[in-house]
Amino acid sequence: MKKIKAALLGCTGLVGQQFIRLLDDHPFFELACLTASSGSAGRTCAAALADASATIAHAATLALVIRETTAAEIIRSRARVVFSALPAAAAGPLEAELRAAGLRVFSNAGAHRMDASVPLLIPEVNPGHLELCRAQLRDHEGFIVTNPNCVVAGLALALKPLTALGLRAVTVTTFQAVSGGGRRGVAAWDTLGNIVPFIAGEEEKIVRETGKILGELAGDHVAGSPIEIFPSCCRVPVREGHLQSVSAEFDRPVSSGEIREALAGFAAEPQQLKLPTAPAAPIIVRDEADRPQPFLDVQAGETGPVVAGRHGRARGMAVSVGRLRPRGRRCDLFLLLHNTVRGAAGGSVLNAELAASKGLIPGR
Ligand SMILES: NC(=O)c1ccc[n+]([C@@H]2O[C@H](COP(=O)([O-])OP(=O)(O)OC[C@H]3O[C@@H](n4cnc5c(N)ncnc54)[C@H](OP(=O)(O)O)[C@@H]3O)[C@@H](O)[C@H]2O)c1
Repeated sequence: MKKIKAALLGCTGLVGQQFIRLLDDHPFFELACLTASSGSAGRTCAAALADASATIAHAATLALVIRETTAAEIIRSRARVVFSALPAAAAGPLEAELRAAGLRVFSNAGAHRMDASVPLLIPEVNPGHLELCRAQLRDHEGFIVTNPNCVVAGLALALKPLTALGLRAVTVTTFQAVSGGGRRGVAAWDTLGNIVPFIAGEEEKIVRETGKILGELAGDHVAGSPIEIFPSCCRVPVREGHLQSVSAEFDRPVSSGEIREALAGFAAEPQQLKLPTAPAAPIIVRDEADRPQPFLDVQAGETGPVVAGRHGRARGMAVSVGRLRPRGRRCDLFLLLHNTVRGAAGGSVLNAELAASKGLIPGR
C-alpha cells in the first residue's frame, strides 16, 4: 500500500529525534519534511543529529534537509500527516493553521490537549475518543489529535485495567528524568546530585489530563472521570524514564492476585490490530523485589528481533509495574515509562496508526 507523506515539526529536539527513529521506514508513513527553528534550518538530518547513523537506517531520511517551521514549508512538502514535537507556544497557532489547511496533526505539545473537540488519546485506554475527530471535521478541513503529558501517558495506561476493580482515588509521587524538560530544559547545576520537588504546572496537568483520558465520550466532548488524583512531582538526576510511586484506593478490598491479573493480562485495540508500534503487552508486571528501575526497564516493550544492531519499533512502548502491595482497599505499586517514547513520540505515532486503521487518514 502507498505510504502517507508525513512532516515532523521540532525534529532536532529530544522528542523529535525519537520520532525520526520511529518514522524511519515506517510501514504506513514516509518522512517527507523535517522542521526545526531557523537556527537548525538548512542542515541535513545526518549533520544535525549527533548519533543519526546509529539509529536511522535509511539514506533518504539521513539526507532530508531541515526546514524552518512555517505553515508554507509544511504545506509545500505535500505531507498529509503532521507530527508535532514543538514547544507549546510555537505549536498552538501553527497546529490550528495546519488543521485549517486540511492536515491531520498528531501533537505532543500541551496547547490543544484540553480543547473540547480534540482527543487526548492513549490508544489502549480511550480509543473511542478518536470519534471527536469526526466532530472536528465538521468544522475544519483537518483535525488535531494529542497525546498526554509524559507522566499521564504511563499513569492512565496502568490505571485503566484497575478501573474495573472499583478504583476511586490515586496518590502519585513522581521521580522524573531530566529529558522530560527538553534538550535545554533543566540546568545541570540544579540537577546533578539533587532532587527538585517541584515541576512548574506538572501536577495540574496530571489531574486534568488523567481526568479527560479516563472520562466518557459524551457526544461532542468528554465528561471527566470522577476518580480523584493527588500528584506530587520531583525532578531527579536520571536521563530517561519517569518512575512513579502510586497508591490506588478502591471501593472494596483488593487482592494481590486480582491486581496482578488485571495489569498483566491487559491488552486492547492496538494489540488486537497489531499496530506497528504497539507492544505485545502494554503493561509488564515485574515480580523482582527491586524493579522497575529506569536503568534496567526503560526500554520495555520490544517486539521482534534486533536486526543489524537496530531494535524493534515497540522498544520503550510498554509500561513496567512492580512492587504490588495490596492492603485492604488500597494497593501501592511503582510504575515506570519511557518519557520520550511512550510518553511522547511513540504515543503519537501509535495514535496516528490507530487513526489510519479507522479510516481517518485519507490514502489508507
Ligand atoms: N521531553 C519529554 O519527555 C516530553 C514528553 C511529552 C511531551 N513533550 C512535549 O513535546 C514537545 C517537544 O519536547 P522536547 O523535549 O523534544 O523539546 P526540545 O528538546 O526543547 O526540542 C524542541 C524542538 O522544537 C524546535 N523549536 C523550539 N522553538 C521553536 C520555535 N519557536 N519555532 C520552531 N521550532 C522551534 C527546536 O528546534 P532547534 O533545535 O532548532 O532549536 C527543537 O527541534 C514539547 O511541547 C514538550 O512539552 C515532551
